[in-house]
Amino acid sequence: MSQRFSTDILIIGGGAAGLATALQLADHARVTVLCKGDLTTGSSHWAQGGVAAVTDPADQFSDHARDTIDAGAGLCDEKIVNMVVENAPEVINQLLRWGVDFDRENNEFHLTREGGHSQRRVLHVADATGRAITEKLTAQVLDHPNIELINDRLVIDLVNLSKLGRYPSRCAGAYALNRTTGVVEVFQAQFVVLATGGASKVYLYTSNPDGSTGDGIAMAWRAGCRVANMEFNQFHPTCLYHPHAGSFLISEAVRGEGGLLRLPDGQRFMQRFDKRAELAPRDIVARAIDHEMKRLGADCVYLDISHRSNSFIETHFPNIFDRCLSLGIDMRQDPLPVVPAAHYTCGGVLIDRHGRTDLPNLFAVGEVSYSGLHGANRLASNSLLECLVFARNAANKIRSQLKASVELPIVPHWDESKVTDSDESVVIAHNWDELRRFMWDYVGIVRTNKRLQRAQHRIDLLKLEINEYYVNYRINDDLIELRNLVNVAELIVRSAMKREESRGLNFNLDYPGQEANAKDTIMFPGSMDQFDMLRPKT
Ligand code: FAD
Ligand code: SIN
Repeated sequence: MSQRFSTDILIIGGGAAGLATALQLADHARVTVLCKGDLTTGSSHWAQGGVAAVTDPADQFSDHARDTIDAGAGLCDEKIVNMVVENAPEVINQLLRWGVDFDRENNEFHLTREGGHSQRRVLHVADATGRAITEKLTAQVLDHPNIELINDRLVIDLVNLSKLGRYPSRCAGAYALNRTTGVVEVFQAQFVVLATGGASKVYLYTSNPDGSTGDGIAMAWRAGCRVANMEFNQFHPTCLYHPHAGSFLISEAVRGEGGLLRLPDGQRFMQRFDKRAELAPRDIVARAIDHEMKRLGADCVYLDISHRSNSFIETHFPNIFDRCLSLGIDMRQDPLPVVPAAHYTCGGVLIDRHGRTDLPNLFAVGEVSYSGLHGANRLASNSLLECLVFARNAANKIRSQLKASVELPIVPHWDESKVTDSDESVVIAHNWDELRRFMWDYVGIVRTNKRLQRAQHRIDLLKLEINEYYVNYRINDDLIELRNLVNVAELIVRSAMKREESRGLNFNLDYPGQEANAKDTIMFPGSMDQFDMLRPKT
């Protein structure tokens, strides 16, 4: 029999968004944080460039807001942009109080620059900012008596009471697979916060860690929440091209500090595509690289910072320098071979400024959400910022609604009585490979209607197979993640089909122009065939 646990606030995800939300709430309530792996399963740990915030007197909120809106290609929610930008200095101060030691020069923050920023405004800890932030936040979380951090729990689905025939509709907890015992546990809570990160693992090549399988987006969708702007998946222009590099990211800060993009013959090309050249927003740079690689039949282009001094490279980019050197590439002398790879999910679960989703008592924070900040393309280093600002907003709203003592509705146990062990698990691995490859081939940087239709056709077949598997066999991690990836793939493809224009990260050769009154692409629950949501014992 599975176990049932109760808490005041259940947070799903232990990246920057989940950990910061937990810390903001822990003085007021019991908080449980579930993670499907350890610290390194989320993107936060791997973040390189830094956190964007106006801290220099020469910079202004209006400049940060304008850069964000320009990068967002007409779809940012300006009120949300202003709110986030104006709260940035305060969340930086909070990070300092939690112990994050941003790099300084002459007692001032050292600010780096990235694509789309008109000013130097990115605070960083060398080129491993995410590791510095998540280590400090984790230390604070482990120190707090009201927070329980539980690793190796893969949340399968949220509990929406109305789907169990109980009203009013609200989120009452979640089912999670204990990856050590294989048993599905029930977690009940007054409030649930999704902080599960993005979905870039749906593509064959990605800068993201293995955990970015879009679980939170798929779970919220199945639980009845709207999901927005999923066609806007960001491709980072510069990931290392090397058979053993696993799409290792070469930070945009390398270009911010003078790195130049070159063709295989050594010529620069970015000035042909945008007057900001290497410092244009990511969608433009990634598309230009893709275009030049296809035009020349080249495997990669090159990023060259060898004109900066050895000591500059070693102190500003120690992590990138070491990784490249371990692969036999010395960036002090050699240009780095680079290609674009899937990097960031700009769309997600639709939230308001407090992080509230459509389902009462369910919040979403960080890359899992769509808040209106990023529009059709995210400005570099605005993601960690969004995690921290919305963690604070969501925590404030939850605190105002928390009840001192409340009887939680009993959530039924997970039903394993009608399933058996699979005798052909290899099918799941094949489906993973197939999905990620056709998403890369048909739903990548450049799309066409035909390619989108091809992808949708394959998704329909995969859905049938996965559903049959899910209903008949005992679940495991790979199946749960695959089911989520297929859900997310369909949201991406159907959203891309709805957008009959090329804007930001959605570039479709059949619609090269832009619509005058473009709107967000909002997917409503019920608009696609659903997977069965959950299997509680009734
Ligand atoms: P994540 O950090 O991805 O955390 C997700 C958490 O949810 C993990 O703990 C995971 O275990 C857990 N989880 C997921 N699914 C489940 C489930 N089913 N059950 C239980 N737990 C689950 N952004 C910037 O602003 N600046 C940068 O410099 C920067 N650099 C980047 C570099 C790289 C290589 C990458 C990949 C991204 C970078 N980004 C950067 C983007 C940024 O790091 C992420 O958008 C951000 O960290 C997301 O934080 P998050 O807390 O929302 O999710
Ligand atoms: C990078 O360092 O290039 C990543 C920054 C980001 O994704 O915001």
